Amino acid sequence: MLKFNIQNIRKDFPALHQEIYGKPLVYLDSAATTLKPQVVIDAISNYYSTINSNVHRGVHYLSQQATDAFENARNTVKDFMNAGASKEIIFTKGTTESINLIAFSFGKKFIGKNDEVIVSAIEHHANIVPWQMICEEKGARLKVIPVNENGELIIDEFEKLISDKTKIVSVAHISNSLGIRNPIEEIIEISHKNGIPVMIDGAQGIVHEKVDVQELDCDFYCFSGHKLYAPMGIGVLYGKEKWLNEMPPYQTGGEMIQSVTFEKTTFNKLPFKFEAGTPNVADAIGLEAAINYLQSIGLEEIYKYEKGVFGCATKKLSEIPGMEILGNSSFKAGVISFNLENIHPYDAGTILDRLGVAVRTGNHCAQPTMDRFGIHGTIRASFGIYNTKEEIDLLVGALLKVKEMFG
Ligand code: ALA
Repeated sequence: MLKFNIQNIRKDFPALHQEIYGKPLVYLDSAATTLKPQVVIDAISNYYSTINSNVHRGVHYLSQQATDAFENARNTVKDFMNAGASKEIIFTKGTTESINLIAFSFGKKFIGKNDEVIVSAIEHHANIVPWQMICEEKGARLKVIPVNENGELIIDEFEKLISDKTKIVSVAHISNSLGIRNPIEEIIEISHKNGIPVMIDGAQGIVHEKVDVQELDCDFYCFSGHKLYAPMGIGVLYGKEKWLNEMPPYQTGGEMIQSVTFEKTTFNKLPFKFEAGTPNVADAIGLEAAINYLQSIGLEEIYKYEKGVFGCATKKLSEIPGMEILGNSSFKAGVISFNLENIHPYDAGTILDRLGVAVRTGNHCAQPTMDRFGIHGTIRASFGIYNTKEEIDLLVGALLKVKEMFG
């Protein structure tokens, strides 16, 4: 018998079982944040009900228990991504903080005047603005890999952008606004041939496919817990030890120091050098619970199931008259971004909401992507482990109603 039983899985997510305006909730906004399984909610609650304590500094029992639980969570993340060592796993607030950490710390040390940083045309603002800021500060230049009409990166153009001034390449694993899966293996290979490190924004990636950072050989990989069925406020920065050792601290304060005098401060070893202040212990434990939950179902089973639902959604949405899907690529996962001819996405989203269907509308924190396609925004349906083909039919039915109302 398959371990993957969608009805059992749906039972694990309490938030699924509610009505919105009297209609059963169809939650299609997992790219913004996933719902949380009960085991994650329980893990957080258990921490606060039992071993609640600060980590690393206390000699008392609870503090030692909390420290063990926190470091076990780090170890679970390390295994999940197949990092070389747990000291390469830095806990952050989320992908945005992870990218800011790299941009400002790596940038402080390695980016100078007239240097160059490469991102792509379909990045989330979080993978544009930090680089733009450090480039401005250092007098460096931000270069952009263009995309074709399907939203796919043009690799030949990427190769032309590389110069001896390029200090880092930073691209999304999967685009949050289009769902395009970028050819990150090729980007890493080409960059490394030129001696350039690569950062992967995995906010939408790690939830839809297995990530093995050693096999990928990326230099940095970032993701957010809350897009992986874990709590908000916890995220991960994986970095190769050699870079993390060379990079200066991003924030300073307690925890990240080795010794402090008024004359001089020396810094703690990895990973603590990058974790100033009291860490988010409860949510790191919640993240571990989410990873354990996914692994208990079986990652391959999950990816296979999601692919089936995604394929069905793509086909059924394409059949709606007046449907304009943005990013018509076969390399996609998790996200379908679209517009209905002559209907404003916000109007469509509002009607869908009244019908119990939760989608996102707007520019999805990716204004340059919208500019590339000459539009202001889209309707975005994004999928998680709990979505079903029946829900796709409900989405299609609701979209047909929207068309009828605005037709
Ligand atoms: N960055 C999140 C998204 O793509 C909020 O929706």
